[in-house]
Amino acid sequence: MSLSISITLNGHPHEIALDDPRVTLLDLLRERLDLTGTKKGCDRGQCGACTVLVDGRRINSCLSLAASLDGAEITTIEGLADGDVLHPVQAAFIENDALQCGYCTPGQIMSAVGLIAEGHAGDDPERVRELMSGNICRCGAYHGIVEAVLEAQK
Ligand code: FES
Repeated sequence: MSLSISITLNGHPHEIALDDPRVTLLDLLRERLDLTGTKKGCDRGQCGACTVLVDGRRINSCLSLAASLDGAEITTIEGLADGDVLHPVQAAFIENDALQCGYCTPGQIMSAVGLIAEGHAGDDPERVRELMSGNICRCGAYHGIVEAVLEAQK
């Protein structure tokens, strides 16, 4: 049985037929829609590499069933920049050397965008680190990541 969902993805409406109701949002994005900026790390909700925004809130797309998202507004890393103009959080990550290998970076940036939108990070680095703790960086670029989030809030 096929199931159909209507979503707004990076500002564009999509009608998507799901052959398998068990497909995750992460696999839908990467394997069906070729939006490979969203990364698969652990595939079990522990690393944050797959973070996207659903209706403005940060979620792990590996834990979210696509079938449950009918009517949702989804933003991925591909939807942040405005043409050649980077989103302020993307620019802040570059300016603060907030990455090494870059694999976790899309998830870190999406988490930071959601965190800033939530509006309660403040200017305390420890608080930002705590609120970003769902996003793991195996290179250990945490200092730059926190600095980037603090700068992007200004
Ligand atoms: Fe989703 Fe790790 S891939 S949390």
